[in-house]
Parts: sequence; structure tokens; C-alpha cells
Amino acid sequence: MQYSSVDDALNRATELVSMLKEKLGRVPTACVITFGCQMNARDSEKLTGILIQAGFSIISEESADFVIYNTCTVRDNANQRVYGRLGLCGGYKKKNPHMKIALCGCMMQEPSVIEKIKQSYRFVDLVFGTHNLYKFPEYLADCLEQDRQIIDIWDEPGEIEENLPVSRKYSFKSGVNIMFGCNNFCTYCIVPYVRGRERSRSPREIIRECERLAADGVVEVMLLGQNVNSYGRGLEEEISFPALLREIEKIEGIKRIRFMTSHPKDLSDELIETIKNSEKICRHIHLPLQSGSSRILKAMNRVYDKDKYVALAKKIRNEIPDVSITTDIIVGFPGETHEDVDETIDVIRQVEYDNAFTFIYSKRTGTPAASMPGQVPEDVSHKEFDRVLAEVQKYAKKQSSRFEGRIMEALVEEVNENDGSLVTGRLSNNVIVHFPGDESLIGKFVEVRLKECKGFYYLGELI
Ligand code: 5AD
Ligand code: SF4
Repeated sequence: MQYSSVDDALNRATELVSMLKEKLGRVPTACVITFGCQMNARDSEKLTGILIQAGFSIISEESADFVIYNTCTVRDNANQRVYGRLGLCGGYKKKNPHMKIALCGCMMQEPSVIEKIKQSYRFVDLVFGTHNLYKFPEYLADCLEQDRQIIDIWDEPGEIEENLPVSRKYSFKSGVNIMFGCNNFCTYCIVPYVRGRERSRSPREIIRECERLAADGVVEVMLLGQNVNSYGRGLEEEISFPALLREIEKIEGIKRIRFMTSHPKDLSDELIETIKNSEKICRHIHLPLQSGSSRILKAMNRVYDKDKYVALAKKIRNEIPDVSITTDIIVGFPGETHEDVDETIDVIRQVEYDNAFTFIYSKRTGTPAASMPGQVPEDVSHKEFDRVLAEVQKYAKKQSSRFEGRIMEALVEEVNENDGSLVTGRLSNNVIVHFPGDESLIGKFVEVRLKECKGFYYLGELI
């Protein structure tokens, strides 16, 4: 059906959910399952907001009346997990004839995936991609009204819809998209193909959103983009990322600003200065290395080499001594040798990362690396992966213990999952601390003594 606006579609969806409620004799339930990165997490908050507005009660069980999987395709194991979960969900649907199953997100932008769903997953009711998420209210209404498989995938980005309802996972912190897509074309990466070309949101819209969030009790924002350092390119009023940060900093209620992800090729001195001079920008930079071998970096099209990266990381550490630097590393890129991995380990030793996510290279169809010679056998990748991981863990332990005994400010996020007498807080440098406390502290800033480092987290006490 064609609807004249998002509101129009949402009204129809609300009507249909209330009819379903009558039929079932209870409030219909919905479940949103998210794979992948922070961007997807943010998209899921929009999906959840729309489902709540339509009248669903949100639960975490996949036996809900409406289940949506927001997928990731950055590595093949993310795809395989979706198929596994979908099989399970298909079983629930056999028992609940009213159930609807939807798929969206990055994986849906791959034509081979859509073929597979059409052929082998007929029980899926709705499929859409990354470029048309803002149409979800419309799709939801159609899906509740009709008994046919609805598939709508766009090759190009649609509008940046500014007015979708959002339901935040945390009341006191929120992600804020500052840009969409990616223009870097790292040769291993599928993101530019599934998320499209880079588009920056207007600074006015971003600031307005941050102000609205602050008025709604949000104290910490995470600015999201595949490469935040190139924010502002192509906008009518050109603005740099550090300039945007300085504008957001002026918003009174916002106490902490984080961002994700920085590409090392264009992390400017201006950004380092801006962080250094800021009371609000968190002492944490995620700076994906991918490989320490200049030869492999070239094949990856990363644009920097080993020396340039190490010099940048050292400059950051010198300028902002309390900063924590984290990274992403890929092991087993085509053509990578034992000596190349030695180079990666050398960078780990020089930068002494506070934490690192290490991944085994996953071949993504359609990317340049997929057809490069020298694909590394799995057993070799696994051995090299273990070597890298051991090194990463050694330095992560060393780094996180450097704050032991200090009193630092933590934002309390939740009651500890395993021990109800503890709460979990996050420091500016992204390190986690658990300490005695209760629910009433959630969303508050507190001073905590970091008593004991437990590897990647601290046990502490309130001051
Ligand atoms: N294989 C393995 N890891 C990948 N990443 C991106 N593409 C691939 C791939 N094909 C990793 C990178 C990136 C992180 C989000 O995922 O390290 O920084
Ligand atoms: Fe995020 Fe990339 Fe995965 Fe998409 S493919 S969810 S952008 S990590």
C-alpha cells in the first residue's frame, strides 16, 4: 500500500496491531534481534521505537508474534548465525500461525542472500535492506495485513528520515548517526557495497538530535559513522569532525561524547587537540590497524603504512596520556605470511593496545580480496590468530591495570548481570568497573576507587 507519510503508515500499523490484540486476547509481542556493529544497534532502536508505537510489547524471546532480525554481513560467521536462528524461529512459527518473521540490515543487500531466502525460507514474511529502513512503518502495516512474502531491497540510499520514533536501550546514553555509508573500499570489506556511498548528516540535524536527547535525560552520546574523520565532506556548509565535536560539546546536558570509528589515514592533529582540550570527549580512541605489515596494508587499500600508523598512535599517547587505544586486526588476509604477522605483533608491542578485536579474514564475495591469489588455509590462519591474540591479551592486561588504585569517574550503566549486589559502570576510557551499589545509581556519574584489576575490568568501591 502507498501511505502519504510515516505517521499515516504507523496509524495503519497501530490499527492492525489492535485488531490482532482482540483476536489473541492479549497484547501482541515483538522481538528485535541485532547482529553486528553500533550502527545496527542504533537502527534496532529505531525498529523497536516503531514496534512500540504500533502497540507491540517488546520481549527478548524469539517466540514473539513479530520477530525481526537486523543482520550483519561483515564476516561469514555473522551470516551463518542468522540462518541458524531463522531455522529455530521457523519452528516457533509452525506453532503460532499469527507469527510474522522479518529480516533487514546489511546481509539483505546481497543478492545471493535474497535468492536463498526466496527459495529456502518461504516462511519469512518481510525482507528489506539498509537503504529503506525508514519505510519500516509501511512494511509493517503491509506485512500485518497481507499473507505474502514482501521483499523490498534498494540499490541506492533513500532519504535520511529524521522523524522516526526511537526506543533507546539505555535512558541515559544514545548513539547518534553522523554519517552513513563508506567510501574507503578496503579490499576485504563488504560495507561499502551494503551500506552505500558516504553521506554526512547535516550538523544542524545532529545538534538538534543531541539537544533533544539531552532534554530527555541523555548524558552520553556516541557519534556513529564508518569513518568519522571524513565527516562533513560534500555537505553544503563544509564542517570538519573536530568542529562538530566542539559544537556538541556546547550542549549543556551532554557530559560525555564518544565516537566510532576513526580511520587512521585521516585522523588530524586538530582532532587530537580537540580531544586534549575537552572535558567531555572520552579518553578512548578506536583506531583499527587491520595489519602491521605495510605490504598487506597496501593490498588492503588502507592508505597508511606501518610507520605512519605507529607514529600516529604514539603521538596520541603522548598528547593524551590517559587515553585508551583499541583496535581491530585481521589475520589471514590473502598473501599474508608468518613474517607479515610478525609485523602486526611488532605494532601491538609498540602501541600496547588497551584492547583489540582480532578477526580471522573472511572472504566476502564481490570484494577485490576475494579473488586475490594466496588465500590462506584455515589451519594456518588459526595458528597465526592464536599468536596475535596471546600478544593482544598480554598488553590489554598490562594497560588496564595501569589505573589500579586511582579514583575515577564512572557512569553507572546497569545492575551487574551475575551479582545483584554490584553495579557496572564505565570510565571515560571505556574500561568497565563493578562495585557495590543498587539500581538507583543507574545513569548517574559517581567517583569510584579502582581497587583491583581483573584483567579487562576492575572491582571498585564508591567514594
Ligand atoms: N574479514 C574479517 N574481518 C573483517 N572486518 C571487516 N571485513 C572483514 C573481513 N572480510 C573487520 C575489520 C573491521 C571490523 C569491523 O571488522 O577489522 O575493522
Ligand atoms: Fe555494521 Fe558492517 Fe556489520 Fe553492517 S556489515 S552491521 S555496517 S559491521
